Amino acid sequence: MPDEPPTSGVAEWTRAVELDRLQPSRPVAVKLRGKHVALFLHQGEILACNNRCPHEGYPLVEGALDADCVLTCNWHNWKFDLKTGATLYGGDNLRIYPVKVEDGAVWLDTRDPPPAERMERALEHLDQAMAEYDTARIARELARLGKAGAKPELALVRGIHGTHARLRDGMTHAYAAAEAWLRLRDALAGDAPRLACATEALAHIAFDTLRERTYPFTAERAPWNAEDFAAAIESRDEDGAAALLNGALAQQLHFADLEPALAEAALAHYNDFGHSLIYLMHVRRLIERLGTEVEKPLLLAWLRSLVYATREDLLPDFRGYAETLAAWPASARPGGMLPGADAFEEQSPRHVLNATVAAAGSAPLDVYFALMEASARHLLRFDERHALRTDNSAANNVGWLDFSHALTFGHALRQQCARQPHLWPPGLLQLALFVGRNSGYLDPNMAARTAIREWAVTDETAFHERAIATIVDHGVGLPVFPAHWLKTWSAVRDETAAGLPTGARTAMLAAVNRLLAVRFKQRHALRTAHQALGMAGKED
Ligand code: FES
Repeated sequence: MPDEPPTSGVAEWTRAVELDRLQPSRPVAVKLRGKHVALFLHQGEILACNNRCPHEGYPLVEGALDADCVLTCNWHNWKFDLKTGATLYGGDNLRIYPVKVEDGAVWLDTRDPPPAERMERALEHLDQAMAEYDTARIARELARLGKAGAKPELALVRGIHGTHARLRDGMTHAYAAAEAWLRLRDALAGDAPRLACATEALAHIAFDTLRERTYPFTAERAPWNAEDFAAAIESRDEDGAAALLNGALAQQLHFADLEPALAEAALAHYNDFGHSLIYLMHVRRLIERLGTEVEKPLLLAWLRSLVYATREDLLPDFRGYAETLAAWPASARPGGMLPGADAFEEQSPRHVLNATVAAAGSAPLDVYFALMEASARHLLRFDERHALRTDNSAANNVGWLDFSHALTFGHALRQQCARQPHLWPPGLLQLALFVGRNSGYLDPNMAARTAIREWAVTDETAFHERAIATIVDHGVGLPVFPAHWLKTWSAVRDETAAGLPTGARTAMLAAVNRLLAVRFKQRHALRTAHQALGMAGKED
């Protein structure tokens, strides 16, 4: 859509330049009411546009205007129809100003379009920028949206509606991180860091849906019933589960009404390495921030990710989960020895499961603290060579995010169990599986005490300031990595604010300190080649 001139109100004509200053080969630049304008005389017609190229600001008065009235910016070759402002090659459109000639001078109507019109235009252009994963343009359109008086939440609501059915496997880290980016934005003061956070939120969504077609959800409705919902998820029936969700929303039920059933479904198995519960927490927070109009798209996307979730409790290493959960005493008697992190550190999944169920008599929060401290110690002791090596099997594709997930899952678990305490047993046992799984990738020569000392956070205020600076200006190409820096730091910060025993607090802060110093290996070309050759070699 070309940049339209103002359509309402009274024209505000401003004398711009004497008519005889304009020559066909000599455009003129003027500054009027704070606006930089370029004026051209083209085949007897006077045309005026913003002198700053909407791409990166090159002065268009220096551009090349051809016989068809196409103005080319000489910096990166974007081309504009100077009569309408439409971009013929490039991205953002060009602002055009109405012109009149009077008293031997050129006059411009410098009114801005009404804010609502500018917002709508910025949103439309943002759609285009997201469809192309053009992060610089996403930032520019968000800046224009803000200048028109709108918050990035408006763009996020629209972005969620426009993308939720293009996530083939359902919700990804993009929506979860979007919530975290906006929360970080709330805490920042400068315009640029705040815009960077909003841009990251939208850009990650654009990245995850780039060139994806739509995978429609069913529009069927069924009366809401929590047992039927659990059964539909259990049988991986997306249409059945979505119909129940559609029915619930049509019955005017909202997230808070459905949350108990959703959380139980998320924790029904050790699945998707904890993402189901992590995502649910972010869905709740997004709905709290953005309102009920995002309930349906978010819940449908989340539901799809749960239907397609991997089932780690079917893998040999984690198969003990169901029987251990069944062994959890129905009414645990208080007492017994409260386990510390030592009881869980560097132990197999089976051992950690058993140690966790043995602690069932302790307060769940105390067991939680010990498991979280063990998770943090593991991150601190992670032998990075496992993340870097090229000759490992696919089963041992382990990286930093396997360790950070233990902390973000734990954080989501604590939040959920504050609302539904009966979920502690499955949640603690799933946290135990993170701890047990990660035990296999530790540096045997690195003691937890040494690692904690090395990465200790002594000044928390300074540390959080440094963490925010690292996260906002991350410089990492794939959005999933800074998203994990952000979510892990944010989880640990929230945990420390909620209250942690000294051991867990010290280890968790040190762990996130180490994580923020990591230089992520974002691609594994040689490892992938080794694994592909191994696979192909065994197929005949
Ligand atoms: S600044 Fe004009 S095309 Fe890039």
